[in-house]
Amino acid sequence: MKAPPITLRLFKAQVAELVDALASGASEQLARGGSSPLLGTSFYNDNNEQESRNGQPRLRGFFFNFLTLILATAKREGDNPLFEIAQEIALMFDRLQAVPPDPILGIIAAHAADPNPRKIDLGIGVYKDESGNTPVLKCVKKAEQILDSTETSKTYLGPPGVKGFNSAMTELMFGKDSAVLKADRVRTIQTPGGTGALRVGADLIKEAMPDARVWASDPTWANHYALFPAAGLELNHYPYFDRETSALRFDDMMSGLQDKGPGDVVLFHACCHNPCGVSPDPEQWEAVTDLTAQRGFLPMVDMAYMGFERGIDEDALSVRLFAEKCPEVLIASSCSKNFAVYRERVGAISVVCESSQKASDVVTVINSLTRKNYSMPPTHGTGIIDIILHSDELTGLWVSEVAGMRNRINELRKTLADKIAAAGIEKDFSFLQRQSGMFSFLGLSVEQVRRLREEFSIYTVDSARVNVASFNEGNMDYFVDALKIVL
Ligand code: LMR
Repeated sequence: MKAPPITLRLFKAQVAELVDALASGASEQLARGGSSPLLGTSFYNDNNEQESRNGQPRLRGFFFNFLTLILATAKREGDNPLFEIAQEIALMFDRLQAVPPDPILGIIAAHAADPNPRKIDLGIGVYKDESGNTPVLKCVKKAEQILDSTETSKTYLGPPGVKGFNSAMTELMFGKDSAVLKADRVRTIQTPGGTGALRVGADLIKEAMPDARVWASDPTWANHYALFPAAGLELNHYPYFDRETSALRFDDMMSGLQDKGPGDVVLFHACCHNPCGVSPDPEQWEAVTDLTAQRGFLPMVDMAYMGFERGIDEDALSVRLFAEKCPEVLIASSCSKNFAVYRERVGAISVVCESSQKASDVVTVINSLTRKNYSMPPTHGTGIIDIILHSDELTGLWVSEVAGMRNRINELRKTLADKIAAAGIEKDFSFLQRQSGMFSFLGLSVEQVRRLREEFSIYTVDSARVNVASFNEGNMDYFVDALKIVL
């Protein structure tokens, strides 16, 4: 009877046994020609076990070693028919290939390694002052001192983290007089950064409705493309940005959302759209939120730049309108930018439910999801923000510091547009002044982006998204000269 094929599981077990046996001296036994439990077992499945037991152990041992050698060779030669089997028995991490760096984070490393003193990093979205530093806000320093002198323990706080931060963030986003707060329909749980909030939100959606489809603007933040599929959700897009006019495709966006309904999740950027800097105006938000309520899809809001577009309350408009009109809303917020606590990883996931009881139930699901992921969030950054938002004096200081960052970015937008026009560059860059927040697309080709990088040490992501906050008096002219050359 023809021997059935080697089962992979059995083969792996044989490899493991061989290695163990060799290590424990079975090789000596083999050399002496004695019997060995290792060599008495079969490469074939159980039907052939008896036959194998009666075979010649020494010969089988050699055959086994020989086969292992072939497989080891096959591992190196992808076209070998045994390659797949060899892959299966490879070491776990042998299967992993290096992945290219993240499109945004990779810029940090490339810029840091560049010795050119005139280099400019227009990549990652961090605020920089006139001297190119990302300062610690004064309100943060003061709160940090208070935290340092009042903190008496660093014991676990449990999955919700700093409760004072959670409630203060809820009030900040929804407004103290919000009807959903009065009806106790909101819960906010701190997360490690805004990305953590997005991931917890995505996990919650997956838990609630595994087949839910997520719709994000075209384009959207680079990490959205990776994050939602990583949580097992299908990510699709609705029309958003017009690359010709550098403006919002409002009508296309509305018609793109017309056929969405229950089972769909639509992701919005609350303000300062990343990467294009274009947001709906207040009237357009009214229309978007009306449509959302009418169609019954779940709005999910990514709020990473509250205060950078028009003001703290103004930038929460979409969140407040969704909360007023829709039974359910998800908000992923970040304090990285507006409190400049980037590396502290401060964010929050907020959920609005149709009843107070449902909100309490959903929080238990969030807590169980985070427990399985990072267990509990870090609390140094949220402790600082808890102190700021519970002090009128520090809150006032924070509001003025956010206004300072916002105003400086707006001035940089105007100066850059003026300088580009004054340099005689034909292409119209006046859109820079009509957009807001840190980001704008320059509308350059990948080739032009590459030339900026290679010839001038000016770093942007391949999409030609620039962080306007990285400009200053000292680098803007150099940038405009380079732009004129590559255009
Ligand atoms: C960005 O888009 O540059 C920021 O949100 C930072 C990041 O993590 O990508």
